Formats: sequence, structure tokens, C-alpha cells
Amino acid sequence: MINYSKKVLKHFRNPHNVGKMAKPDGVGEVGNMACGDVMKLYIKVTDDRIANIKFETYGCAAAIATSSVITDLVKGKTISEALVMTNKDVVDSLEGLPPVKIHCSLLSVDALREAIHDYLIKNKRIVPENLKRDHERMMKTGRN
Ligand code: FES
Repeated sequence: MINYSKKVLKHFRNPHNVGKMAKPDGVGEVGNMACGDVMKLYIKVTDDRIANIKFETYGCAAAIATSSVITDLVKGKTISEALVMTNKDVVDSLEGLPPVKIHCSLLSVDALREAIHDYLIKNKRIVPENLKRDHERMMKTGRN
């Protein structure tokens, strides 16, 4: 039996910002090859800020909780602020994850970065080098 924090269970039972978004400005879809879980994240950008964000995740409790919490963390943030988000930020805001579930938190950060990459490309904006590299690696391997 995996011992999740109260915050993980709260987000798992009542996830925030779930669902598909109509006409998103950017979409990121990532998968974890080890477990087969998949996450799709949609963003709407207004004045360089993430005005709205939604997700669809087919995965474990940790994957759903991390998807939910990352939407809370980045809503209202600028693109640059969202790009410095790490999986540690996600794990910390969930009051920790069991060690065997840390990899699940990577999915949400990867999906966010892919959605921002998609937005920047579609809007002919400059893509930061590290984001470009992450995206290329993802295209080759299926995940970051
Ligand atoms: Fe697959 Fe958690 S076990 S993302």
C-alpha cells in the first residue's frame, strides 16, 4: 500500500482543472514509457500569461495529483515563470511523494513544457535553447 500525503489524496479525489480545452493556444502530450501513463495538458495564453490551463491524464494517483497541482501552480504565471517550474516544486507543493512515485511528477512538468513549446512555435516566438533540446529529446525517445 502506497502512503500518499493528505494533499496528494485531496488532489486525486478532487482534481482541479480537469478536461479538454476548446481552442487551446498550446497543447503538450507526454507519456511514461515505463508505466504507459499519458498526460495531455492544454494552455490558453493572454498577454504572455497562462490565463487558463486544463489537463487530461490517464494514470496513477500521483500522476493525477501532480497534473492537478501543476495547473494551480502555473495559472496566472508568465511563460518565463512557468518555464522555471521543476518537478521538485510540484512534489513540494504536494507535501512530498513516495520515492517510487517521484517519476510520476516528471510527467506534469514535461507536459507543461511541451504545451509551452507548442504555443511558442505556433506563435513564431523564440524558443529557449533548453526547451528546444528537451522537445527534441522527447521527439526521439517518447519522453524527456
Ligand atoms: Fe505511471 Fe505514476 S505510475 S505516472
